[in-house]
Amino acid sequence: MKYNRIILSEFGTLGIPDPCRNILERFASYFVPLNITDNDLINIFTIGDDLYACTETCFFRKLTNIETLDFDKKKINQFKTLGVLTASAHPHVDRDGVTYNMASSYIGGSWYNIVRYEPVKSDDPSKHARIVGSIRAKNCLKPSYYHSFGMSENYFVFLEQPLYVNLKKLATSQLRNSAICTCMEFDKEGKAYFHVMEKRTGKVLSIKYEAEGFFGMHVINCFEEGGHVVFDMCCYKDDELLQKFYLDYLRNGDPSGKRFFCASISQRFVLPLNIDKTTTPRGQNLVTLKDSTAKAVLQKDGSVFLTPEQLSDAITDMPRINYEQYNGRPYSYFYGVAAYRRGDFTNALVKVNVKRKSTIMWHENDCYPSEPVFVASPGAVAEDDGVIVSTVINTRTKRAFLLVLDAADFSEIARAVVPEEVDCPVSFHALYVPNMSPSGLTATEDAKCNFQNGREVCVA
Ligand SMILES: [Fe+2]
Repeated sequence: MKYNRIILSEFGTLGIPDPCRNILERFASYFVPLNITDNDLINIFTIGDDLYACTETCFFRKLTNIETLDFDKKKINQFKTLGVLTASAHPHVDRDGVTYNMASSYIGGSWYNIVRYEPVKSDDPSKHARIVGSIRAKNCLKPSYYHSFGMSENYFVFLEQPLYVNLKKLATSQLRNSAICTCMEFDKEGKAYFHVMEKRTGKVLSIKYEAEGFFGMHVINCFEEGGHVVFDMCCYKDDELLQKFYLDYLRNGDPSGKRFFCASISQRFVLPLNIDKTTTPRGQNLVTLKDSTAKAVLQKDGSVFLTPEQLSDAITDMPRINYEQYNGRPYSYFYGVAAYRRGDFTNALVKVNVKRKSTIMWHENDCYPSEPVFVASPGAVAEDDGVIVSTVINTRTKRAFLLVLDAADFSEIARAVVPEEVDCPVSFHALYVPNMSPSGLTATEDAKCNFQNGREVCVA
């Protein structure tokens, strides 16, 4: 606003560097893209007792007031503290309170790093963070794009997918006057590679896992079972999802008149851990998990080729699970946004039973729900004992409401309607904050929703 122009580059919008920088800084910023966005609109996560908002760059921000959503004015710059330029928007919090994230650095090659943030109180938690381990990109000039990663009890799993960031193009994007999205390249012939890192040591396993190429944003869950690592993800056959979020496409569709169809399906990859390249038989399925149709075959070159198992017929993404109890552990359910009918925009919520491969849906005409957040009942025992909370936009009435479903059967418990017209897109990600009032944050009774039985209730 100060300069009356965009100075920070977004994914699809080129920023012109801050005119107040001196000539040398401006020249450098053409080659080191430090004017990337600090617009932390993608996700909220915790480090210790504090809340932070993040996007996919080295910048994140501390939330100082849970009611007003005020942030610490000073943004956290992980390029300065850890030398990383981009990061996943989906950090994981382990049961010991430690937060982990995946972040990339480009010094001496391209590296995907796991960063460990200690759960301490700090204005800059990246000062109390360290890199646990690093994975070198297969092609240093074309590192893979990623949005999330898997964390089981003992391992991190990173998917190096064939959607690449062309660093040569990125370095000259300012000179070419083109945005970051023009530097992304999907290789239709490329494979997907799975890297497994030991959580305790940061050591990357020498076994190389690969599969037919695909594109995925969100890992559903990742856990160990019977000598395997199981990795569940919402998968697209290519990068068409990114192409379809351009305004032109959203407004006009493609030449055939088709508006929006992105078939994301939930897939399970099973990675057998106990492989000896000299004694393990080649050419046969090494997955011994009962009830799984996923396959893993040791190839002549020593790599393991994975064939996934489809978890559901539902077209779904934005998956959430009962994270506190089941992340990194065998589980039964995930929840997601879904297309009610094939070809629809995401206009439904779905509950998928990954063991029985059954689904339940919530759908209402003209309604577009956001990511379903699972909130467990106090003292819950069953995995799905709790509620699903989602903000929903009704495009006909231009009203938004917070929808509360029973997570067990998807019956509606309540909805809280925003009394004014709402003209905004559905949100990305959300976080339920259970009575959180650590120092620095305030929560009052007034800010809570007063849910009652029945459909129509107000926000107090
Ligand atoms: Fe995401």
